Amino acid sequence: MTADIPVEKLTPEQAVRELERLAAEIARHNALYYQKDTPEISDAAYDALFQRNQAIEAHFPELIREDSPSQLVGAAPSSAFAKVAHARPMLSLANAFDAGDVDDFVARIRRFLSLDADAPVDLVAEPKIDGLSASLRFENGRFVQGATRGDGAVGEDITANLRTIADIPDRLKGDAPAVLEVRGEVYMRKDDFLAMNETAQKRIEQGEKGEKIFANPRNAAAGSLRQLDATITAKRKLHFFAYGWGELSEPVSETQSGFLERLAGWGFATNPLWTLCRSAEELLAYHTRIGEERASLPYDIDGVVYKVDRIDLQQRLGMVSRAPRWAIAHKFPAEQAQTLLERIDIQVGRTGALTPVAILTPVNVGGVMVSRATLHNEDELNRKDVRAGDTVILQRAGDVIPQILGPVLEKRPATAKPYVFPDTCPACGSDAVRPEGEVVRRCVGGLTCPAQAVERLRHFVSRDAFDIEGLGEKSIQAFFTDGLVKSPADLFTLADRDAKSLTPLRNQKGWKETSVRNLFDAIEQRRSIALDRFIYALGIRQIGQATAKLLARHYGSLDALMQALHDARDETSDAYRDLVDIDQIGPAVATDLVAFFAEDHNRETLAALRGQIEVQPYVSTVTSDSPVTGKTVVFTGTLVRMTRDEAKARAESLGAKVAGSVSKKTDYVVIGADAGSKAKKAEELGVAMLDEDAWLALIGDTR
Ligand code: IVH
Repeated sequence: MTADIPVEKLTPEQAVRELERLAAEIARHNALYYQKDTPEISDAAYDALFQRNQAIEAHFPELIREDSPSQLVGAAPSSAFAKVAHARPMLSLANAFDAGDVDDFVARIRRFLSLDADAPVDLVAEPKIDGLSASLRFENGRFVQGATRGDGAVGEDITANLRTIADIPDRLKGDAPAVLEVRGEVYMRKDDFLAMNETAQKRIEQGEKGEKIFANPRNAAAGSLRQLDATITAKRKLHFFAYGWGELSEPVSETQSGFLERLAGWGFATNPLWTLCRSAEELLAYHTRIGEERASLPYDIDGVVYKVDRIDLQQRLGMVSRAPRWAIAHKFPAEQAQTLLERIDIQVGRTGALTPVAILTPVNVGGVMVSRATLHNEDELNRKDVRAGDTVILQRAGDVIPQILGPVLEKRPATAKPYVFPDTCPACGSDAVRPEGEVVRRCVGGLTCPAQAVERLRHFVSRDAFDIEGLGEKSIQAFFTDGLVKSPADLFTLADRDAKSLTPLRNQKGWKETSVRNLFDAIEQRRSIALDRFIYALGIRQIGQATAKLLARHYGSLDALMQALHDARDETSDAYRDLVDIDQIGPAVATDLVAFFAEDHNRETLAALRGQIEVQPYVSTVTSDSPVTGKTVVFTGTLVRMTRDEAKARAESLGAKVAGSVSKKTDYVVIGADAGSKAKKAEELGVAMLDEDAWLALIGDTR
């Protein structure tokens, strides 16, 4: 693999491939980190990818790609929020990892400014807060708009959410320029984070669904801030440290340190640990001191930042691609610990995926107790070659779930044997197969595999599916083991069978007369269920809530859906084309859907269920007499007056169908900026094309 070849040894052809791989890989991690708030790798691992990209580019400058991560900042904003173009770009910071990097940074500044080697340069040193950056716009002293960083040029409008943060003043104190953009970091304190997770954990144990455990304060802050519903943000305890600026209608200070004082004067919280340094030695001493204080600070930091104090010098220094030349982040090493890997367990998921999990002797890593860690999949496990009996190195890089880096080979007992990944399912003994080109090995037992069956039942009763209260994970497992509930339909005959049973539930451990009655009532209430919930509850691979809703809306009734999926077995049929034409449903999803409904066991389960319950046809909350009712609309290109999701929701609420591709059946194509092939296709087919304003006029929106 090119990924393993040292940079100096890469041939130009390999370098091309490697740069392509790194661009895609880093883009994927950017999206996970910035848009989904669910990073998969540590900061350190991310930095390593980034550095490899830079090292290859230094070797092969002619190969630098337009979409190279070195040319971009972060990830494009997600489509759920309206976009905000930053008046001044929100930059990122270059990283220093050791004393040599810091020396280079100071020397570079001196060289650039033609200063003598011993001439002092004042630098502000301050903690690097592990949160997420926000830009706050004040006009005439009032907070008017707040945004995330996004890709540095365009962020997301999160004004309503930011207004709920007490550290952000609604009105500035004292004199402020007419336009003032303040930048800083939104974060959650460690104690608030722990308390929030503890509450969520308790609720989960009580069987409440929809609760989320966050891996660390940064993810919790990000998840809380990027809520579409600001009342949820308001319930979370978020804070804000101000440290920088964007657009200013007039200068406010000659120095960075002076600016921090002005910020405090306007009523912002600034980090109290900042200090002025005059040399690389002083910076390094600061790094050491803050490193020692790190664990006892009430918030997470992942390094310190050094910034040239004089703003005129900052302006002369300017920036290089994604970061200012006048500032650098000096990172802390990731927190690591060693512990014993007691054994490797295999978990079987709802769709049969086999996931190896390391069971560890509990150990504290950077303030978090760790006793299990996922090994992701077979390849990952083989690559790391960790074995039962190994001492392994765990790492928690400030902001992610602890990861196993690898074994400590010197400590490996002679008896430790390489782990052999099972080729049969540990739960049912069926073959576990791994199709060519896939990383996941799956149990083929399907409906006969008890582990999959239990996971599927759990999904079936979960909050967004049948939402049967009082039926927690433990009860499902017990019902299954006792043979009381083997398949979803059994839930609906449970009360009758229990009434005739010699060992009724109310006499069993963990149950009382009232809890049994409540459970049976809850099940009874679900004998009638909405179509979209029903589809989601089936647990078909790739069919989440949103897709289930799309299907329900498109087909209207379970009969129509089943008929269409039956007809769509033939990929040349109209039914198939109609299916893949639904926006967001591609061939892969279509294949899983068709296969699910074609499978014998599934058909039996469905038939049994339909004998017990009634699936309500989809009731649209849509207007039936709008100018676009019944029309098929395709959106393409970037919309500026509203987000794509907003536009789609609006069209659907007016009774239109939103499709993903242009065909003869399309009535309107709404063309945004930079529209590509879809606009061309529309032109070829003679489909009506509207720009965004014309579309708004058509639907009578006079925004
Ligand atoms: S200054 C042009 N100061 O770190 C200067 N950034 O890795 C840009 N950060 O996007 C930022 N604490 O989200 C600065 N005291 C601090 C910071 C800080 C945290 C974040 C910020 C930035 C990221 C860059």
